[in-house]
Amino acid sequence: MIEEQINWPQVRYSIREVLEIAATKLKNAGVEQPIKDARILLGYSLDKPWERFYGKEREIIKSEQLHNYGQKVLRRCQREPVSRIIGRREFWNLELEITPFALDPRPDSETLIEAALEKFPDRSRPLNILDLGSGSGCLVLAALQEWQHSTGLGIDIDPHCVELAKANARRNGLSDRVKFQAGDWSNNLDEKFDIVLCNPPYIPTNDILKLDEEVRFFEPKKALDGGPDGLDCYVQLSSQFRKLLTAHGLIFLEIGFHQKKQICEIMRISGLDVIGIKKDIGQRDRCLILSHKHC
Ligand SMILES: C[S@@+](CC[C@H](N)C(=O)[O-])C[C@H]1O[C@@H](n2cnc3c(N)ncnc32)[C@H](O)[C@@H]1O
Repeated sequence: MIEEQINWPQVRYSIREVLEIAATKLKNAGVEQPIKDARILLGYSLDKPWERFYGKEREIIKSEQLHNYGQKVLRRCQREPVSRIIGRREFWNLELEITPFALDPRPDSETLIEAALEKFPDRSRPLNILDLGSGSGCLVLAALQEWQHSTGLGIDIDPHCVELAKANARRNGLSDRVKFQAGDWSNNLDEKFDIVLCNPPYIPTNDILKLDEEVRFFEPKKALDGGPDGLDCYVQLSSQFRKLLTAHGLIFLEIGFHQKKQICEIMRISGLDVIGIKKDIGQRDRCLILSHKHC
C-alpha cells in the first residue's frame, strides 16, 4: 500500500502534519523543492489552490484524500514531474492540459513569444500564425492570446497531440481562431504566414540517455529525438521555411543553446537570413529569428 510506504499510522491528520510528512519524504528522495511540491500536490488532491492552506494548517484531511495525496507524493518520489502528475502546466498566460503524448512546455520556449512580440509590437495586427510541431499547442495559443485579431494553425505529426491542442484551445477560449491538424511539418501546406513558430526535437539521439530522469523517463521520445547530431529536423525544415513566409514574415525557431552555429549555417544555405538571436532566461541562445534573404 502506498500509505504504508508513506507511513500514515494515525487516523487523523492535519494539513500541517501531512505537508511535513510529505515534504520529508520528498526531500529524502532527492526532490529539489520538496516543500513547494508537497503543497502543490496537496492542492490538487484537495481540489483547492495551495495558497489557500495558509492559516488553515490545522484543518483535518479526510482519509480518501490522504490516500489520493499519498499516491501523488509517491509518484513524485519516483521523479515524475509535478506537471505530469497533475496533468496541468502554466505557459505564458495559459493553463494547459498535458498528457504523456506531448512535451511538457518549457519556460525556455516562451522566448519565442517574447522575440515575436518585439518584432510585431502592434497587437491589433491581424496576423496569420503557424506553429510547426505544435505539441500541446502552447506556442500558437500564447501568440493568439497576444494578437487578438490573428488566426493560427498548429501542425503535429502525432494525432494525440492534435487532439490535446484542440482541447487546450477550447480550455483557453481560443478555438474559434485556431486550427490544429496532423501532418509532417509543412508538407501539403499551401498557405503563407506572417509568423512561423517552431520548436522541433533537437536532442542528439545518444544524449537522450544522459538527460535528467524527469525528462528521460517522462517525455515522449519523438518530441526530443533530433537524430544522430540533433539537427535532422532543422535540415528537413530548412527546405520548407521559405515557401511559408509572407514577404515580411518571420520565423522564430527554438534551438539547443550549443547548436547556434550549425543551425545558422543550415538556414543560410537554404536562402534565409538570420536577423536575430534571442537568449532565454538563463542567458543561453534559444531563439533564431529568420527572414527571407535581403539582397
Ligand atoms: C519539442 S516538441 C515541441 C512541442 C511544443 N511546440 C512545445 O514547444 O512545447 C516537438 C514536437 O514536434 C512534433 N514533431 C516531430 N516530428 C514532426 C514532423 N515531422 N512533423 C510535425 N511535427 C513533428 C512532435 O510530435 C512534438 O510534439
